[in-house]
Amino acid sequence: RVSKEAGHDARDTPAHQAAADEAPLHEATVSAPVNIAVIKYWGKRDSKLILPTNSSLSVTLSQDHLRTRTTVRAAAEFSSDRLWLNGVEEDVAASARLCNVIATARQLRAAMEQADSTAPRLSTWGLHVCSENNFPTAAGLASSASGYAALVSALGALFELPQSATELSRVARVGSGSACRSMLGGFVAWQAGTMDDGSDSLAEQVAARAHWPQLQALVLVVSDRKKTVSSTAGMQTTVSTSPLFAERVRSVVPHRMAAMRAAIVARDFATFATLAMQDSNQFHAVCQDTFPPIAYMNDTSHAITSLVHAFNAAVGRVAAAYTYDAGPNAVLFVLRDDMRALVQLLTRCFPRPAAMSADAFYADPFAVFASPDL
Ligand code: DP6
Repeated sequence: RVSKEAGHDARDTPAHQAAADEAPLHEATVSAPVNIAVIKYWGKRDSKLILPTNSSLSVTLSQDHLRTRTTVRAAAEFSSDRLWLNGVEEDVAASARLCNVIATARQLRAAMEQADSTAPRLSTWGLHVCSENNFPTAAGLASSASGYAALVSALGALFELPQSATELSRVARVGSGSACRSMLGGFVAWQAGTMDDGSDSLAEQVAARAHWPQLQALVLVVSDRKKTVSSTAGMQTTVSTSPLFAERVRSVVPHRMAAMRAAIVARDFATFATLAMQDSNQFHAVCQDTFPPIAYMNDTSHAITSLVHAFNAAVGRVAAAYTYDAGPNAVLFVLRDDMRALVQLLTRCFPRPAAMSADAFYADPFAVFASPDL
């Protein structure tokens, strides 16, 4: 049994009741973080292998507030693969991506079993998977990223795969593009790659979290409702209809990737923040240029954007940045020394800050400022 997080007991879940009497136990529990892109991934050149049209770069958030925890168990007696997401059983066979991820991990295990005849034939056994998020699923908080990263990490641990996190990021990518970036911590680049088989489309660490401890993130939960247009469907329409998107991929992203990487290496907050805001704005402009247009941000999102610019104008420098994914929630970046002033402004301007856990985010570098119904 492998457990990468202490204190978790998934034995009350249906998968584990079903397997209660079986031995020996082949089980692993791993949790994985959410990542927030500061250079956005939007658009695929291959939708089966999930190969992107452009490289992207993200910041991995702390697992204290946003994470998926997944337990996988293999048993010869399991007649089929089954998965429970937040306690509710999902249809594994109905999800091509889930099936692809499990099949790819099984192939890696089968290669090991061929080389070692004493290894138990886990690649031929059924799997039961229990996965839970500690935040709203599919509300633009990158739950598919942490979800597939946790699944792949758990399968890697269960199958005792020798591959590195970067190598396994190829497997997570097949589940959801942004998931490959959640396989690593700190600042992570997903190289689009050029190969048709996706072998060079993987995630690698640009810098460890400890490289820039002053940098903090605030997640402002504007709405925890499910998003109206999925990322997958939205980006497909964008690729086929938006001329602005083609221009972004061709002439904007390559330069921005290099500049963002340099800003992180130099701990240059003003450049990091400016690029993050500009890239978020261009992503949402591309959504607007999609036909029919896609609107992920709402009035509260736009109000937060204005507030960040007002804050920066008031302090006379770029002290805070915003970014938005495929939903209305904001993620703000700010250096530790400016956190208090920014939070004071936010709590003054938005009426219901009660759900915010100030202690949590002062204590932790990447924490959550959750105010549902803001
Ligand atoms: C706006 O990774 O959810 O969050 O690959 O189709 O599963 P699929 O899409 P997904 O898209 C994320 C898009 C984004 C930007 C980003 O995270 O880079």
